[in-house]
Amino acid sequence: MELRRISLYLALFAMAVCLQCSDAHTMRRRGTDDADYDDALMGDEATDDETQNDADGGNEAEEEDTPPETIVTLPTSYNVTVGRTIRLECKVSPNNGPVIEWHKNGHRLFMGGVKYPDLEKIENSERLTVTNTSHDLFIADVRASDSGTYRCQVMQFEPVMIEHQVSVQEAPRIIRFTASDDGTVVEGSDLLLTCDVAGSPPPQIIWSRENSAGNVRLQESDAVFTLNTAFIKNIHRDQAGKYYCYVFNGLGNTQAERTVKVLHKPHVQVHKTVVNSALGVEAILQCSTHGEPEPAITWYKDGFIIDGASTQFVITREGLHSNLTVTPKEDQDFGTFTCEARNSHGKHNKSIELVQRPVVEGVELEGNKLSWRVHSHQPLQQLELQLRDTEGTVTTVNVPVPETKGHEYEVIYVLDNVNPGKYEVVVKAKNNKDWSRESEPIVVDYEAMPMPIQTASVYHGNAHSIRPASSVVLSTVFMYLLVRMF
Ligand SMILES: *[C@@H]1O[C@H](CO)[C@@H](O)[C@H](O)[C@H]1NC(C)=O
Ligand SMILES: *[C@@H]1O[C@H](CO)[C@@H](O)[C@H](O)[C@H]1NC(C)=O
Ligand SMILES: *[C@@H]1O[C@H](CO)[C@@H](O)[C@H](O)[C@H]1NC(C)=O
Ligand SMILES: *[C@@H]1O[C@H](CO)[C@@H](O)[C@H](O)[C@H]1NC(C)=O
Repeated sequence: MELRRISLYLALFAMAVCLQCSDAHTMRRRGTDDADYDDALMGDEATDDETQNDADGGNEAEEEDTPPETIVTLPTSYNVTVGRTIRLECKVSPNNGPVIEWHKNGHRLFMGGVKYPDLEKIENSERLTVTNTSHDLFIADVRASDSGTYRCQVMQFEPVMIEHQVSVQEAPRIIRFTASDDGTVVEGSDLLLTCDVAGSPPPQIIWSRENSAGNVRLQESDAVFTLNTAFIKNIHRDQAGKYYCYVFNGLGNTQAERTVKVLHKPHVQVHKTVVNSALGVEAILQCSTHGEPEPAITWYKDGFIIDGASTQFVITREGLHSNLTVTPKEDQDFGTFTCEARNSHGKHNKSIELVQRPVVEGVELEGNKLSWRVHSHQPLQQLELQLRDTEGTVTTVNVPVPETKGHEYEVIYVLDNVNPGKYEVVVKAKNNKDWSRESEPIVVDYEAMPMPIQTASVYHGNAHSIRPASSVVLSTVFMYLLVRMF
């Protein structure tokens, strides 16, 4: 017993070192009947009180005089939302002015109204108070960091204590959402997105990207994720767009967005590579570009920059698109027009030929039906189709020129009476200026013709019947056998 008493004295003495002497003294005066405690605190065995108690014969007598305090309050779990004030109760009985210590997660905060140094480590520690009318701990303006285990302990010979759990609930908040290089990265470099969040329970993050491909959630294959970052290695222009950090916990959700630009050299596309026109007929040459930063667009005619002064050329621009409107006044106004896009990362161009000769487009073969279009502002004089076999023998077919109201001719020609074999088919057209270029050859293979074809027939109720090659079957076979070449 004596040994235990001495060790308690030592422990309490050590504690006293961190307290102001004056505070301790006040306490001693207030709690004269809690002699054990006071003496321990002061380490002063020679006080009158102590002498008297010792004379009474020690512990047993003392415990009879002052029955030990018990804590009436039951351990409680407090769920509290951020910003509120909570009162952690610690009701003591018989409450003969005991000294109460409050701890948080094992660190001492208060002894009575006196503060321990550990208290200062709490954010805005003045929010925590213990009143001298009760022993309860008040926490005002609760923050997420206030979550933890709080212990109320009565300082007496046989200490008693209870523990409360405080769980602070906070709807998620995004503190900041940042992108490396301020969201403007060069293609091929890396992008780091950081989404700093607050909330309790800790919110979860979902990353997504929105661009012309839609709004898609980032997958493990797109980025490397940590708790609050997404890392995209070797970024591609397709990965530019609006990035979203969406955060949620049981109390709510919120999101933030960041635009990411991927710098890259421009790319040019033209609507048509050859355009037919005639003297005095307006032609619109259309050019679209991509590029980050937005490229400058320059038009050239036969390698020379077109300036704004010329009346037969008008340049318009809307965002990434540019039109060059040409109204040729003389033959020299036809030629090669080049659309060039340029930015800090490079340049790219595509050319459009403006011609008076016919332009053949959209050649298609469906079954044995060949169709194409011809543009010509001058009336067409001749239409020709050529079949070139593997020996190089050319069979020329004159195709009748169809009627047209404008300058576009729709031509359909059915290939029949053709000997079995493999052919390249090209078409061309002539107006009073010149012949068009030949169309890209289409390869036609008649080798398998006109063999009878075995089909699974549903018409005759006999899956093994052999039908002769009818025209229906023939066109189907054509579709399989004809290979388009570019
Ligand atoms: C406190 O919150 C936790 C987690 O959100 C929950 O499991 C528990 O039931 C809540 N307790 C009370 C008393 O609301
Ligand atoms: C609480 O203590 C402070 C000083 O420690 C004192 O000024 C105040 O009057 C006390 N309040 C009550 C209700 O005892
Ligand atoms: C277009 O690009 C090609 C290839 O880079 C270049 O040789 C040519 O000079 C360019 N044309 C114009 C008009 O810039
Ligand atoms: C270019 O011409 C097309 C066809 O007339 C038109 O739809 C488009 O708006 C024009 N674009 C510009 C930039 O002028």
